[in-house]
Amino acid sequence: MRTPIIAGNWKLNKTISEAVELTTELKDLVTATNNVDIVVAPPFTALDAVNKVVKDTNIELAAQDVYWEDSGAFTGEVSVPMLKDAGCEYVIVGHSERRQFFNETNESVNLKANAVLSHDMKPIICVGELLDDREAGRTESVIKNHVSGAVEKLTSDALLSCIIAYEPVWAIGTGKTATPEQAQEVHNYIRNILKETYSDEIASQVRIQYGGSVKPENAAELMAQPDVDGALVGGASLQAESFAQIVKNAI
Ligand code: PGA
Repeated sequence: MRTPIIAGNWKLNKTISEAVELTTELKDLVTATNNVDIVVAPPFTALDAVNKVVKDTNIELAAQDVYWEDSGAFTGEVSVPMLKDAGCEYVIVGHSERRQFFNETNESVNLKANAVLSHDMKPIICVGELLDDREAGRTESVIKNHVSGAVEKLTSDALLSCIIAYEPVWAIGTGKTATPEQAQEVHNYIRNILKETYSDEIASQVRIQYGGSVKPENAAELMAQPDVDGALVGGASLQAESFAQIVKNAI
């Protein structure tokens, strides 16, 4: 049985005080919600302050990115031990915006995932095709390339600590959600890749989130699909009410 996981990716939004306000509101709305993992990913600057709000609650903390070295001369980067120290349990890696604007590649995603796992934290590995890919019938080959590249050489144990987020790039921030059938088709395909690479048993335990214009109105239908184990939410996670509603729709 896979516990659904709903994560809010705040992207480049929220000052420290705004982040604390949002988290405080959210905490009260989801305090009685069980059987779902609830995660927020504020910007780096707000991690410590948000951690103080979520301590001893049912909300966990994620970072939006990381560098794979623990320390050294890498100006501007943040390491896994630093994120752990700030209270993070999860790190989003390979988000399409990072692939698109910051030269993220399968190789760097794999290095980052490994670094996160080596400190007993959990990577949320994002994969997804562009609209051009979908229209040209390349969805499966892009997904296979992203998934295989990210999990390359991971042991079965390590894979079990990973969360895969399927985010069709054409659905991110566009208001255009994949239909539940489109999402299920790709989620099932991802699980089959993991089955081939690992085993049925391992693949059936890995959580695969859907991301891309998830809203309170479409969350339940998406999450009712057999291989959809939660959501990675951008825009709708910036308001406590809508994010809490999505969390409740996950169960
Ligand atoms: P969105 O973003 O919900 O605003 O489409 C999702 C994401 O990028 O993780």
